[in-house]
Amino acid sequence: MAPKERLEKIAEIARLSKEEQAVLSKEGGLSIETANRMVENVIGFMPLPLGIATNFLVNGKEYLVPMAIEEPSVIAAASNGAKLARGMGGFKAGMGKQIMIGQVQIVGVKDAQGVCKKLDAKKDEWVKIGNENCSFVQHGGGVREFSARSISTARGEMVIAEYLVDVLDAQGANSINTVLEAAAPKIAQVAGGKVRLRILSNLAVHRIAKASAVWRKEDIGEDAIEGVLDAYEFAANDIYRCATHNKGIHNGIDAVVVATGNDWRAVEAGAHSYAALNGYKPLTKYWKDEKGDLHGEITLPLAVGTVGGATKTHPVAQVCMKILGATGAAELGCVMASVGLAQNFAALRALSTEGIQKGHMKLHAANIAVLAGAKDVQVEAVVQKMVEQKDITVGNAKKILEGMGH
Ligand code: MEV
Repeated sequence: MAPKERLEKIAEIARLSKEEQAVLSKEGGLSIETANRMVENVIGFMPLPLGIATNFLVNGKEYLVPMAIEEPSVIAAASNGAKLARGMGGFKAGMGKQIMIGQVQIVGVKDAQGVCKKLDAKKDEWVKIGNENCSFVQHGGGVREFSARSISTARGEMVIAEYLVDVLDAQGANSINTVLEAAAPKIAQVAGGKVRLRILSNLAVHRIAKASAVWRKEDIGEDAIEGVLDAYEFAANDIYRCATHNKGIHNGIDAVVVATGNDWRAVEAGAHSYAALNGYKPLTKYWKDEKGDLHGEITLPLAVGTVGGATKTHPVAQVCMKILGATGAAELGCVMASVGLAQNFAALRALSTEGIQKGHMKLHAANIAVLAGAKDVQVEAVVQKMVEQKDITVGNAKKILEGMGH
């Protein structure tokens, strides 16, 4: 389909209003006024293509998944990985409570361990002060726990006071930092020493999403299964490969994170630090059952939200949320984790069998054809010829166009 036809189809399924469709068809999708309120020193926009990954069946529900990304093949690969998982019912996914960690650093203390005990003894007070300054309390969230620990550093002992805050369906960064900044001076009075950092931790180990899927032998073939298993072992035993393995996972996840107005740097930092907890490891796992079918699983922290921040201020993110239809942070995390797994499976399958250049080359060739001056109606024919001739260059595209009477 052409982009316009696709949008009409998606609009029909997701019941997008004319205004919502207009937001998507407008290049950039943001007004300069909104952009100027979001960040500083605004001069314009940096738009990304927005595509829809299809075939996602997660916990029995169908999803159309908006993905904002500049890299070719990612959306096709995710859709393909998801399609092949449908034989066994798609993805099963889960995510617990949305608990974030916030940290207060206190330096210059004498007897750090003694200070920790003193702070822990007044835990109820810190929780109370935190909740008095926490916007989530009125919605059922808020501070769940307080504890203090000490660390030994080159600059001496430090006390790290940690808050656990239930941020419900928000990404939660601003609210946690407000809690920490409000409570820190009072904590410092008891601790002695000087408060330095008051900031959340992106290693969101309490916001873990898990997704799994089974790819049947009859759907993908024995060689692909062995290939994925070999690829997985490579990543599990070699950090150079593991970095790329996890990068591919984030091709999928980040594209959804960006499309939904969430903070992809936070997601990346969380996932990579989580992967490094016991020596840097793949975020996915694969194994084969007695029937020879392939099982895949992904586990990673996903600090993402469906309320607040850019999810609400960015008009395109709002429409993407509507298309996706996730009602809360946990559901959004389940879909993102499933996308990460589908993406990784598709990459490993392609890499371990035919390679990924074939897929990449088609879109690359389309760009080359356009650069050579091909009109929309000519692009496909030029691409086909260039791929057949194994010569994907502007020079060759021009030659083909001349042959077509361009
Ligand atoms: C490219 O953006 C991502 C891959 O390199 C991922 C991988 O190697 O698993 C294809």
